Amino acid sequence: MASESTPSPFTTLGIVGTGAMGRGIAQLAAQAGLNVMLFDAKEGAVSEAQRFINGLWHRSAEKQRITSEEAQQYSERLVEAQELHALATCDIVVEAIVEKLEAKQGLFSDLEGIVSQDAVLATNTSSLSVTAIAAACQHPERVIGFHFFNPVPLMKIVEVIPGLRTDDEVTQRVNALGAAMGHFTAQATDTPGFLVNHAGRAFGTEALRILSESVTDPATIDRIMVDQGGFRMGPFTLLDLTGLDVSHAVMESVYHQYYEEPRFRPSPLTRQRLTAGLLGRKTGEGFYRYVDGQQQLPDEPAIAQASPCPVWISQDDPDSAAQLAELVNAAGWPLESTDQPSSQALCLLTPLGEDTTSCALRQGLNAEQCVAVDMLAGLDKRRSLMASPITRPEMVNAAASLLNADGTPVSKLQDSNGFVLQRVVACIVNVGADIAQQGVAEPATINRAVELGLGYPFGPLRMGDHYGASRIMTILNNLLEATGDPRYRPSPWLRRRAALGMSLTDGPTS
Ligand SMILES: NC(=O)c1ccc[n+]([C@@H]2O[C@H](COP(=O)([O-])OP(=O)(O)OC[C@H]3O[C@@H](n4cnc5c(N)ncnc54)[C@H](O)[C@@H]3O)[C@@H](O)[C@H]2O)c1
Repeated sequence: MASESTPSPFTTLGIVGTGAMGRGIAQLAAQAGLNVMLFDAKEGAVSEAQRFINGLWHRSAEKQRITSEEAQQYSERLVEAQELHALATCDIVVEAIVEKLEAKQGLFSDLEGIVSQDAVLATNTSSLSVTAIAAACQHPERVIGFHFFNPVPLMKIVEVIPGLRTDDEVTQRVNALGAAMGHFTAQATDTPGFLVNHAGRAFGTEALRILSESVTDPATIDRIMVDQGGFRMGPFTLLDLTGLDVSHAVMESVYHQYYEEPRFRPSPLTRQRLTAGLLGRKTGEGFYRYVDGQQQLPDEPAIAQASPCPVWISQDDPDSAAQLAELVNAAGWPLESTDQPSSQALCLLTPLGEDTTSCALRQGLNAEQCVAVDMLAGLDKRRSLMASPITRPEMVNAAASLLNADGTPVSKLQDSNGFVLQRVVACIVNVGADIAQQGVAEPATINRAVELGLGYPFGPLRMGDHYGASRIMTILNNLLEATGDPRYRPSPWLRRRAALGMSLTDGPTS
């Protein structure tokens, strides 16, 4: 738990605002060996925070994660500042007060008159510009963003955000402090959403677009993203957990701060649900209902068993075709190996970013026989299929039955450019690639920060390398062509590296 192995470049850290974030930062700082002075404008808030943190240490000692001497030592390092002036001895003050620009500017102006000339002023803001907070200070070069995630001790990452006028030495010292507190420090530029909240824009917004196109329901989208995509949680479960009051505000904030960048466009669906009070878990209803805190997940639609029929597989992508052929053989269904399918055959297509309709027409096939299978993540955990509006129902049922023959779950979708997984993954990779293009952070930092901050199975650039940059390009280009929506335009970072066959993460960054 303690992180005293990495020395801290600061000795006394002041916290202003001892709510959810301030108390977590205080806990880590004390564990890292710093003296911590706590100030809050609200009467009794500091004592409450101290009780809370001491309680955590007490329980850790009971569970023998730390010794009772350590718990005692840490506790002695937490000291209440009765007034702001008491922070005069701090060599760094971290503010975690209300998320309002004027309040933070006012606090830092006051602190400039209290702390020594070389003390650092750090802000835990998640959505305000560090440069704007610093602009109200006499010495903006000592102001920096030090952005932790909730819950602070468990989320092992902190973003270090120098403003435009922040001194390099201040940035280095704050990076060292983050490391001493036991966290991965992700240095990023002072841009809307910084790194993690910027990289997180695609997951929810693309899922909402898929929902708004009636491709399928929230539970199916969540199941696909968890089973096929390897995400810990689906986008609608996450929206419900965070609460629409928070997530819709973040979606709108980053979108507007980037001057209506289409890649971040929020959905009218969340605004309306917010108005209706369907915030998520905290109000007992969001995209799901909650009874006694338990998410009420609708049952998966049953897959009816169909009799075997001849199956013809498109050779669009030979590797995907081979995987499907193996599955057909294993199920004991007859396979047609001719160039063209017979009129009774179920035709399986493997599009990337195309819908079943255009994929069938491009190959000169009868769309009535065609069903598309998402092969982006292979066939292991769950299989997604979709059909054109004129695909015969018996063909859809046959395909679902075939794909379910070995017991693997199957999700049936309406025709869509890019199924569910392809769309969400391509958007995540593209947003991540553009973060790299903008130089918000180093590629390796982008990956690690997203893995730690968002819990994705891969950081966005590694995700692109995993699925193949050229396949991601195909998905995006087809989505762009079909929709005309610049939301899907590939970032130059992705386009160039895919064209050159390069990794999205490694190699030169210019
Ligand atoms: N909660 C999160 O998930 C999260 C994550 C990252 C960053 N942040 C940011 O951290 C900051 C704090 O968030 P929180 O969730 O801990 O809030 P919170 O409401 O839990 O705590 C804020 C505390 O600040 C005190 N306070 C408010 N104005 C003050 C002032 N002018 N001077 C002194 N004390 C003041 C309040 O009394 C309260 O105790 C915000 O800037 C927020 O955007 C929050």
